Amino acid sequence: MQSSPGGTTPRTPRGTAGEKASVPAVLTPVLTANWDQADSFTLDGYKRTGGYSAVPKALAMAPDDVIAAVKAAGLRGRGGAGFGTGMKWSFIPQGDGKPHYLTVNADESEPGTCKDIPLMMANPHVLIEGAIIACFAIRASHAFIYVRGEALHVVRRLQLAVAEAYAAGYLGEDIGGSGFGLDLVVHPGAGAYICGEETALLTSLEGYRGLPRNRPPFPAVEGLYASPTVINNVESIASVPSIINNGAEWFNSLGTEKSSGFGIFSLSGHVTNPGQFEAPLGITLRELIGLAGGMRAGHRLKFWTPGGSSTPLLTDAHLDIPLDFEGVGAAGSMLGTRALQIFDETTCVLRAALRWTEFYQHESCGKCTPCREGSYWMVRTIERLENGDGTDADLETVLDVGSNIIGRAFCALGDAVPVPITSAIKYFRDEIIQHQKEGGCPFNPAASTAWAE
Ligand SMILES: Cc1cc2nc3c(=O)[nH]c(=O)nc-3n(C[C@H](O)[C@H](O)[C@H](O)COP(=O)(O)O)c2cc1C
Ligand code: SF4
Repeated sequence: MQSSPGGTTPRTPRGTAGEKASVPAVLTPVLTANWDQADSFTLDGYKRTGGYSAVPKALAMAPDDVIAAVKAAGLRGRGGAGFGTGMKWSFIPQGDGKPHYLTVNADESEPGTCKDIPLMMANPHVLIEGAIIACFAIRASHAFIYVRGEALHVVRRLQLAVAEAYAAGYLGEDIGGSGFGLDLVVHPGAGAYICGEETALLTSLEGYRGLPRNRPPFPAVEGLYASPTVINNVESIASVPSIINNGAEWFNSLGTEKSSGFGIFSLSGHVTNPGQFEAPLGITLRELIGLAGGMRAGHRLKFWTPGGSSTPLLTDAHLDIPLDFEGVGAAGSMLGTRALQIFDETTCVLRAALRWTEFYQHESCGKCTPCREGSYWMVRTIERLENGDGTDADLETVLDVGSNIIGRAFCALGDAVPVPITSAIKYFRDEIIQHQKEGGCPFNPAASTAWAE
């Protein structure tokens, strides 16, 4: 069964609410558990399934104990880099006399990444509940959810949920008579991938053009309005209520040794049933493709991204690697946002790499030369290779330009520019050279479309 809004088969959380017969045992639906309920996005719907029960528990704890629980759970940031969430919270200086801020990064713009938007559409209150607990822990009384500008439907849904939470006394002054108060603002960006980079996000939130800032000082010391700020991904914050409710040990018992817990894996592309699958970290792509009904009929896996376009491509040789931070790293890529874009043998890897590089060129903010100029020249050269007009020298040039961007760019967007093409050359050099030999692309682009026979 597919459900709105994310095309996801809803599943019951393992270890929290018992097993549903229809839930494959390998899945651990927590954040996605109630996506099949028609009113899952309302306050009533959320409360009916136990929502907001973690708030009084957390507010009865000492803030440092909340941080300790998140640390003990081993929750690592779900926005890509996998930094310890509890550790990040503990960096906020205490007794400094400055206001503290939480900024939820809901900018989700990486090609392939599609977990936060469905989560906020189906279950915005779990994010609000997580934000309340996080702010209590870091002693913040203001929080912002910075949402991708184009996702107006998400902005509206969040605004409605925030209004409901204020009306019910979960936001505002003196929450539940605890003495703790929180104001939460939903802020739509103007639609730029760079504004998902945490320092560019803060600059944009302050009302300036979204350009990355130098670090140090780090946001924990000088973030929003030069005050201590925690920036966390939507899924990281949304995972917190389940840790408070079920305990750090429960969360830690899921996943693998250094990659605790569960995560939303988003399968897109050439699988029979694309969608979100919430599973313990460490699940394999082979298992996930099985859950997605297999590759589209009559085709086989050629290449895939483990965590969006910024993570190096992998191939069918990597079907059984554990999808956790360590397993994907050992295979030469990154877990990233678990955005599994699946491509079968009908796809030209060079064309795919060209599209991704065009995206990076378009989204480069232009602040630094290696990324601004390098992304432009990489697109021009890959275009030549794809058209069949390229030379051996072009192939070497593209690698050379790429190696001159990595490590020399001002922010991680620049480091991502060469990722698709360099990993494509690593695994499919012969196919790329075939373009030269045949004077054009040997693939029929129509064959890789969703409507192709
Ligand atoms: C160009 C670029 C775009 C990014 N976009 C996002 C995004 O949309 N959402 C997100 O959570 N993190 C994004 N990140 C990562 C953030 O900078 C940051 O690491 C993350 O929000 C931290 O949250 P976490 O610790 O909970 O993972 C992006 C990074 C870069 C370089
Ligand atoms: S690496 Fe690219 S996106 Fe980042 S600051 Fe430089 S030009 Fe801007």
